[in-house]
Amino acid sequence: MVNKITTLFLLLCSLSVAGEYHQQSDVACSDCHTTHYSERGTIPENSEPGGPFPELLRVGSIDRLCLSCHDGTDPSAPDVMAPVVMYNGSGSEFSGAGFFSVGDGVISVNGHDLGVPTEIPYSNPPRTVILSCVSCHDAHGTANYRNLVLDPDSLGADISLTLGSDVFEAIHPGNPPERNGSIQAYRSGNIGYSANAAEWCTDCHNALLLNGPGTPPAHFMRHPSEVGLEGVGYHLAPAHWVGGAGDGFGVATGDAAEGIPRLRFQAPGASDFLSATTPSVTNQVFCPTCHFAHGGPFKSSLTWPYQTAGVDLYSGCQQCHFK
Ligand code: HEC
Ligand code: HEC
Ligand code: HEC
Ligand code: HEC
Ligand code: HEC
Ligand code: HEC
Repeated sequence: MVNKITTLFLLLCSLSVAGEYHQQSDVACSDCHTTHYSERGTIPENSEPGGPFPELLRVGSIDRLCLSCHDGTDPSAPDVMAPVVMYNGSGSEFSGAGFFSVGDGVISVNGHDLGVPTEIPYSNPPRTVILSCVSCHDAHGTANYRNLVLDPDSLGADISLTLGSDVFEAIHPGNPPERNGSIQAYRSGNIGYSANAAEWCTDCHNALLLNGPGTPPAHFMRHPSEVGLEGVGYHLAPAHWVGGAGDGFGVATGDAAEGIPRLRFQAPGASDFLSATTPSVTNQVFCPTCHFAHGGPFKSSLTWPYQTAGVDLYSGCQQCHFK
């Protein structure tokens, strides 16, 4: 116990990396840790019965700990659990990462599964992991955007996804956090991408960024990522994409009219939020075009109801391909 407390104290003195929330001078260790758990037989505030727990955590599972604030109960913490009403009326339909449909230990077809052993799809060699919040986010922060871990597959190579060079925000999350500031900061329309998001996902899904060549007239073996719209002979409608009107484009997903808001894209070489969000023929399709990082209302974490009969079925594909 003495060693743990010494370590906690030393960490307290050294944890001051600049960057995202949960790691700056604003960090309260007691948000997540309890030093002794129970001194006089009573359960500490905001803690679960049954402790003390490993790593001196307040709650027995890391996912339940994170979700104790991120499930909508803490008004200023971005809600990552369904149903999310936080972003209604914000100008975006979702947050940058979307949401998990179910909690710890339950399998879902609509997003990443937390707390269950599962094989990583498109991993070569095959690997089985148990995903949790800290598979993707470091609880104490990293130099990456959203405290994303530097090495998601834990096999050695770091991937930087740095705010201000690879990812841009129009509005930075407030500190101290406040509800309206969080809504504006975490909504998907507040974020623009220029590099490395697909590299980060394919650290685990490593078979997918190869863009392996296909047999003509196909250019690729699978849908490519990080490929722009201007290539000669491509099966695309670049002017339709840049114009942003007509087939595929609409005001809201799931309204009676065909069309959805413009899907996300990567703008290689962008240097700020504006250049990262300006439609152009050099925009690239990438994983977040079609998938949320957490999940969402649609099967396979897709960003629109591609596998559900309805007017928006092909809207996403039409924005670039206009068939
Ligand atoms: C947002 C929640 C959260 C906050 C805030 C937090 N921790 Fe942690 N901490 C965790 C989690 C979760 C683990 C377990 C990590 C794991 O198993 O990957 C952990 C593990 C630890 C460990 C042991 C393992 C390690 O990573 O070294 C120490 C020591 C520690 N935390 C100290 C601190 C100190 C000191 C503070 C305040 C400056 C702090 N933590 C703030 C969530 C948090
Ligand atoms: C005590 C409540 C609380 C707990 C527990 C908590 N969070 Fe948070 N978290 C917040 C709040 C509030 C914000 C919004 C901060 C802001 O907008 O400045 C936040 C922000 C975040 C962000 C976005 C950071 C950024 O600046 O982009 C991530 C990622 C995150 N939390 C992950 C986690 C993970 C992973 C855990 C569990 C290890 C966790 N949180 C536990 C309250 C909490
Ligand atoms: C498979 C990886 C992965 C897992 C697992 C994961 N996250 Fe995330 N999370 C991300 C990525 C990537 C982003 C950034 C998405 C973007 O903006 O493009 C993100 C964004 C966030 C944000 C910012 C708000 C938002 O919705 O965009 C919060 C808060 C957050 N995650 C908390 C959590 C918590 C809490 C857990 C566990 C319950 C968790 N994450 C599990 C990858 C993950
Ligand atoms: C943000 C733009 C974008 C979106 C959205 C998009 N694609 Fe593509 N697609 C591309 C690019 C870029 C290529 C590569 C150019 C090519 O091969 O013609 C491509 C290639 C293709 C190809 C041909 C592959 C080849 O080898 O020639 C098919 C088929 C295809 N996409 C289907 C789809 C379907 C189905 C959807 C919807 C689920 C979709 N695309 C959504 C940009 C997009
Ligand atoms: C043009 C849209 C599009 C892009 C870009 C895209 N995906 Fe997908 N992805 C889909 C669709 C649609 C499915 C549903 C199954 C299918 O049709 O193949 C899917 C399925 C998946 C699956 C689930 C496979 C399974 O067995 O359940 C994973 C994992 C995946 N994609 C990861 C990625 C990653 C990582 C990237 C970026 C490198 C990416 N996808 C880029 C459209 C896309
Ligand atoms: C730490 C490793 C890891 C990272 C990083 C990761 N994934 Fe996954 N992914 C998995 C595992 C394991 C599964 C299979 C179990 C499940 O569905 O959660 C999976 C499943 C999926 C699926 C199918 C989910 C469904 O709806 O059933 C999609 C789509 C997907 N990932 C896309 C992504 C995208 C996009 C990113 C980057 C934002 C990403 N993944 C980052 C490990 C990872």
